Amino acid sequence: MQTSKSTPRPKERVSTLAFDVAKIREDFPILHRQVDGRTIAYLDNAATTQKPKQVIDTLVNYYTNYNANIHRGIYRISEEATAAHEAARAKIAQFINANSPQEIVFVRGTTEAINLVAQSWGRHNLGPGDGIILTQMEHHSNIVPWQLLCREKHSHLKYVGITDDGHLDGSDYQMQLENDGAKLVTVSHASNVLGTINPVREMIRDAHKHNSRVLVDAAQSVPHMPVDVQDLDCDFLAFSGHKMCGPTGIGVLYAKKELLDSMPPFHGGGEMIREVHMYESTWKDPPYKFEAGTTNIAGAIGLGAAVDYLNQIGMRKIRLYEQELTRYVLDSLSRIKGISIYGPRDPTQREAVVSFNVGDIHAHDMATLLDEDAICVRSGHHCAQPLMERLGVSATTRASFYLYNTEQEVDRLAESLERAKRVFKL
Ligand SMILES: Cc1ncc(COP(=O)(O)O)c(C=O)c1O
Repeated sequence: MQTSKSTPRPKERVSTLAFDVAKIREDFPILHRQVDGRTIAYLDNAATTQKPKQVIDTLVNYYTNYNANIHRGIYRISEEATAAHEAARAKIAQFINANSPQEIVFVRGTTEAINLVAQSWGRHNLGPGDGIILTQMEHHSNIVPWQLLCREKHSHLKYVGITDDGHLDGSDYQMQLENDGAKLVTVSHASNVLGTINPVREMIRDAHKHNSRVLVDAAQSVPHMPVDVQDLDCDFLAFSGHKMCGPTGIGVLYAKKELLDSMPPFHGGGEMIREVHMYESTWKDPPYKFEAGTTNIAGAIGLGAAVDYLNQIGMRKIRLYEQELTRYVLDSLSRIKGISIYGPRDPTQREAVVSFNVGDIHAHDMATLLDEDAICVRSGHHCAQPLMERLGVSATTRASFYLYNTEQEVDRLAESLERAKRVFKL
């Protein structure tokens, strides 16, 4: 955490690279929305992102022209729906460089993906005395499922601490691995509060040396940077469609094929079975074994369209643009006297998620004042209460950015924060 003193604003704007943000903004109808005569500045992208018309049109086209259940109907529009659904799975596999589409399980989102691993792999691999390593910067979604599992299995959680500048404590991690090991390491690729990008590749390498499996919570990384599951060598990886221009209610669990083969089903029901008899059943192969009942067909097809959209811009370009924008945000906000900004200061080590407090203004009051200026931010504990405890605060205000945000919106945020200070006589 750093508290800054007032310094002059720079005259020059940072370069925005060869990235046509104005053109990108044209794809997102909601970004033109006015509230009380002002265009919104949507800075709550860590919570959910906006949808381009390419994704919206894909959903409308599905519901208008070929809405049908999949893997069941032997008629034209059902076959079209099945083909589009499975094409989306293949696109997503390619997007994260999975070995095959069979390694992509459709779920509701990151939360459900992690619960699936806990309840399927975890229940069958953990026992009394086994440890799970996680970190103090995890989202509740990557804490609570493991607490439930540990309660049932009499296993225990081991937390890796955080340094004062918002990084994971590497020596603590090594110590946790060496001290009677762990069956599983589960870690966020990027923090939804601090923005910190964790060195998951190296963490996975070290965990594997100790025969630990690794789950990567990629909710905040897959939308913002190239992620290659084979290069990372992660065992499991979870992410949400709605945080990457896709629809809500759809997400992905990636897992290595041999793990999915060995895991029992999570939910039981139609379409995940091979045969059902009165007292026993057999299962389909993965991923279908984990996709019981009618799934979010439109969501999966919409997520495929979101992947097309991001690919057409390029994930490397998106990462570089956001890195430059992060630099601009950190420079701009750190000029506000009395602000405390949490997380690393080096934009190459973090994402465009910036949490802060200004003086003793409560985060909810701050968010309310920003809303008066049509600026949408999140305030509160961001589903990361153990991290809030570590930071010694109950809440922060969080501005989080995506490929369509601009330096002008950062300027609006900075101006609005100065106005809040005046309102609170700071
Ligand atoms: C790091 C992280 N993990 C998990 C989640 C949960 O994602 P979802 O609510 O889409 O399941 C979030 C959502 O904010 C997140 O930021």
